[in-house]
Amino acid sequence: MKRIGILTSGGDCPGLNAVIRAVVKKATQDYGYDVIGIEDGFGGLIRNKHRKLTDKNVSGILTLGGTILGTNRLHPDIQEAARGFRRLKIDCLVCVGGDGTLRVASHLSKAGVPLVGVPKTIDNDVKGTDITFGFDTAVHIATEGVDRLHTTAESHHRVMILEVMGRRGGWIALYAGLAGGGDIILIPEIPYDIKLVADSIAARRKKGKRFTIVVVAEGAKPRGGNVDLTCGISFALGKEIERLTGIETRNVVMGHLQRGGSPSPFDRILGTQLGSHAVDFIVNKQFGHMVGVKKDTFVKVPLAKVAQGQRLVPVNHPLIKTARSLGTCFGIC
Ligand code: F6P
Repeated sequence: MKRIGILTSGGDCPGLNAVIRAVVKKATQDYGYDVIGIEDGFGGLIRNKHRKLTDKNVSGILTLGGTILGTNRLHPDIQEAARGFRRLKIDCLVCVGGDGTLRVASHLSKAGVPLVGVPKTIDNDVKGTDITFGFDTAVHIATEGVDRLHTTAESHHRVMILEVMGRRGGWIALYAGLAGGGDIILIPEIPYDIKLVADSIAARRKKGKRFTIVVVAEGAKPRGGNVDLTCGISFALGKEIERLTGIETRNVVMGHLQRGGSPSPFDRILGTQLGSHAVDFIVNKQFGHMVGVKKDTFVKVPLAKVAQGQRLVPVNHPLIKTARSLGTCFGIC
């Protein structure tokens, strides 16, 4: 009989519990394995905090946001984490996390720990996979934000800015901006010219459109400028827009609302599939790999490849082309 460990690490996101549930159910029911849940990410590996997970523990968690195992953003010392793994007397480990976690997993794998990676993050920026679970839920919530801002923007004839997460990637802003009919979408991959943003708002006024919705990614930056992810780009952006256009402007930061709460049906299904494939990887001894999604299939991606960086929005992405053809401004000519 095998003993496998599972941990969730990095920022939480909707769908983590779907993965845990799938791993536990499939590993225990189909293969008779024992599953050990490691608490609070790599921290639990180091501090020896864990508990056995059975079918009973995962019953009813599919619809829950967050992670029943807890998480943190600790980047552990690799040798210490490898010692923690050996102390647990488990045969292998499932690491569920974003690019930072999967980078640690890649180092641990090189240090001899048999493990499998599962990509998660609302940011959708993990290399080697077309999609991560959590993203769909975040886009739904952010889109609802855009929808709700529309009516108040229109009533007050204001510019309303919605700042969404995504770190250095613009996936959430692009998708929610398009889904909500944002007039201006600003993403980190396309540094914006504030003058062109103001011109676009003025041009709308001229056409009789007295309000404007701006969707800005937290990592967006002005051309030639820098970004500080901790200070909320929408505050400075709002002031600049008001100064250049003279139009009353308000900003809203969606923040962690995008990460909390129940996963969408899509994310529940994706998390379940990824968890199930992670067990297949273990059975077939495909260690040192992440379960990725390419088009409609699940693929084996070397963790060393995943560790190479983030997957950003290509500036020629079809959605950008479509949005621009409809008149959406990205802050460039
Ligand atoms: O990576 C997920 C994410 O939600 C980012 O979009 C955001 O920049 C960051 O985590 C926020 O992290 P924290 O929860 O540590 O404030």
